Amino acid sequence: MTAEEAAELVENEEVIGVSGFTLAGYPKAVPTALAKRAERLHAKGEEFQVTLFSGASTGDECDGALARAKAIKWRMPYQSNKDLRKSINEGSTSYTDAHLGIMGYLVRTHAIPAPTLAIIEVSEVSDDGKIWLSSSGGNSKTYLTLAKKIILEVNSVYGDSLIGIHDSFLPELPPFAKPIPIQGVLDRAGDDFIQVDPKKIIAVVRTDKGDSIRPFTEPDDVSKTIAGHILEFLEFERKKGRIPDSLPYQSGVGNVANAVLTAMARDPKQKPASLFTEVIQEAVFELIRADKLIGASGTALTCSSEARQFFKANTAEFKKKFILRQQEVSNHPEVIRRLGVISMNTALECDIYGNVNSSHVSGTAIMNGIGGSADFARNCYLGFFMTPSTAKDGTISSITPLVSHVDHTDHETMVFVTEQGLADLRGLDPVSRAKSIIDHCAHPKFRQQLNDFLNYSLSSSKGKHIPIALDRAFNMHLRFLSTGTMNL
Ligand code: COA
Repeated sequence: MTAEEAAELVENEEVIGVSGFTLAGYPKAVPTALAKRAERLHAKGEEFQVTLFSGASTGDECDGALARAKAIKWRMPYQSNKDLRKSINEGSTSYTDAHLGIMGYLVRTHAIPAPTLAIIEVSEVSDDGKIWLSSSGGNSKTYLTLAKKIILEVNSVYGDSLIGIHDSFLPELPPFAKPIPIQGVLDRAGDDFIQVDPKKIIAVVRTDKGDSIRPFTEPDDVSKTIAGHILEFLEFERKKGRIPDSLPYQSGVGNVANAVLTAMARDPKQKPASLFTEVIQEAVFELIRADKLIGASGTALTCSSEARQFFKANTAEFKKKFILRQQEVSNHPEVIRRLGVISMNTALECDIYGNVNSSHVSGTAIMNGIGGSADFARNCYLGFFMTPSTAKDGTISSITPLVSHVDHTDHETMVFVTEQGLADLRGLDPVSRAKSIIDHCAHPKFRQQLNDFLNYSLSSSKGKHIPIALDRAFNMHLRFLSTGTMNL
């Protein structure tokens, strides 16, 4: 049927589970039609809002269109759309930011409501209810299994290039959970399709629109410098015999993460590597072109239209090198720890004691969310948090006395990197961490302020283990909010 006809089947207050993970594989036509329907109903004075659960962020045709139509009552577990972000930060949309690896688990264990309707983008569906997903695994199996009604968008843009690439395995729940049978990046544990009861499929809509992903751009100098510090450190650690050669990498979202993969591709010393990650970003094709990718496992493959053509042209080879899993598995603590993943994620701000804020600007306004960063940071073999040392034209120091929101505590962070340098925090006590972060990561123009804070804290705070002068801990943030700069 048409997307408009399918949108008519959605009820007010429906809990919808959609496919999609970081702009890959999200439904496009039905959410857009649903937003238009919501606007029509609102114009007539009728109420119409839904709860939207996903894998992670979805594109503007879904999150953006529904947010602009004021049709999202509650959103979980991640977003990155400017209109939705605005609605959340204005207090109009309820948003629960959650670890991406645990979202499906929360639904499956009934801690939060199960979707009543699943709207899932797929590559193909058979008459007997076998479903082959498109460019993301996400939580689609959980939503398809638990929802009583299913709307499918069969997207022809991928052709058959993604059929066979998925591993739709999900572990059993306690008390029946067994070890996850994945011991290598390319190990498979389940079928490449998801079986549903075909009677639940209430609509099939055909589409042909690609994921809205911007083409890969050359990393900027700051990102390249950060990437250089990381590669140099890894080389040093390998020489010391502290990192086996074969460990896989996880690379987070954003500019800096892309720069690290690009630097790996271009570094003549870099040996072929594998990725056990969440989002397989376009920079992975740089590794392929340099003949340095052994294999990549993730839950989403984010391709611009150019990259999609490249993928489609090499489908046979790439199906052997890529696996897309459900996000409960791509981000599973057990597998990440077993494989010894080297994790690299981007922070908004880091404090001198080792805590990281990945999600909230000035502690109150959501940017995107914690995503899967903690799933990896907490369970990895070696973990980096990277950030340019300043933001907003140098007015903000990304290194602060105390982060204004905590996503990752000092207990699980290991190495901080900015373009200024790198601080290896493993095994350091809080004061040594602070000195190392100020000396190696803070921008020189903010070092004096940070050192003054540390010295004042050492003399004034009651406890000397983590000396924090509570009366001055947020002075830099407060100065930014009142004057527009953290500079004195
Ligand atoms: N205070 C205020 N704003 C800040 C800031 C700070 N300390 N640091 C960065 N910003 C702003 C930037 O100015 C930019 O703003 P703009 O969009 O208005 O230009 C924005 O945050 C994004 O920063 P950018 O430098 O473009 O970084 P990015 O694209 O690499 O994204 C994160 C950085 C942190 C937003 C992104 O990595 C993220 O959402 N991380 C959390 C989820 C995650 O780690 N997922 C991966 C898990 S597998």
